Amino acid sequence: MLLRVQKLHKIYPNGTHALKGVSFDVKEGEFLVVIGLSGSGKTTLLRSINRLIEPTSGTVEFMGKDITHIKGDELRKIKSQIGMVFQQFNLVKRRSVMLNVLTGSLGRINTISSLFEKFPEEAYESARRALSIVGIEEKSDLRADTLSGGQQQRVAIARSLVQNPKLLLADEPVASLDPATSNSVMQYFEKINKELGTTIICNLHFLSLVRKYATRVIALKAGLIVYEGLPSEIDETWFKTIYGEEAEEVQIQ
Ligand SMILES: Nc1ncnc2c1ncn2[C@@H]1O[C@H](COP(=O)(O)OP(=O)(O)OP(=O)(O)O)[C@@H](O)[C@H]1O
Ligand SMILES: [Mg+2]
Repeated sequence: MLLRVQKLHKIYPNGTHALKGVSFDVKEGEFLVVIGLSGSGKTTLLRSINRLIEPTSGTVEFMGKDITHIKGDELRKIKSQIGMVFQQFNLVKRRSVMLNVLTGSLGRINTISSLFEKFPEEAYESARRALSIVGIEEKSDLRADTLSGGQQQRVAIARSLVQNPKLLLADEPVASLDPATSNSVMQYFEKINKELGTTIICNLHFLSLVRKYATRVIALKAGLIVYEGLPSEIDETWFKTIYGEEAEEVQIQ
């Protein structure tokens, strides 16, 4: 088991109970997709796994170790094994693609050399390797904000890869992209999952993408898991359970 989440609760300071006892396991090599209506707790769940937010109660075990309350060096070490990709790419716009990707290895490089933007040759090598996995080595000297949205997301994916993570979390990574670009970016996640063996947990909105890429699906509704199974098993009835009676499926190809 790579990840075991047990009875996870998150109550935000304003009283919102965003996760209400969420439990699930993730095996190595899975491509798990989390779905659910806006506000159902998907982002809260992903952020609780890599401790961008502190869960209120429950446990997160990663590679057999309880990481729910670890701090300092121990937490940094675990975080370097869990990559994260965001909807809005979160690149440093005015910096080159290469520098953006190099910052993914900062956990391993001392702060002084990174301040002067001096990185060891091995860091450049792993950055180039990561850029080639997402097919944009030739963009490495360009400013990040001169790239298209899909290309910027591929840079963000490359940045998450330089640490060679065991687990890659992606929070709506294609929500800002058009349908064709969404598919192409999803294909890179699939490639990383299949060729590098990286386990992926990804929040997605469109069911057609879920059916195409997920090996397993979890659906959240108001902070609870209401579905866990194969993407192919989400029929009309499940769809209405997950998204409500009024909902209708929108296609994205
Ligand atoms: N920082 C916060 N403080 C208070 N409440 C929050 C905070 N972040 C999220 N929430 C609330 O927690 C609940 C779950 O939010 P979350 O962002 O996890 O949902 P989501 O499924 O990711 O939604 P979306 O599909 O819109 O991204 C919502 O009711 C939201 O308003
Ligand atoms: Mg969200």
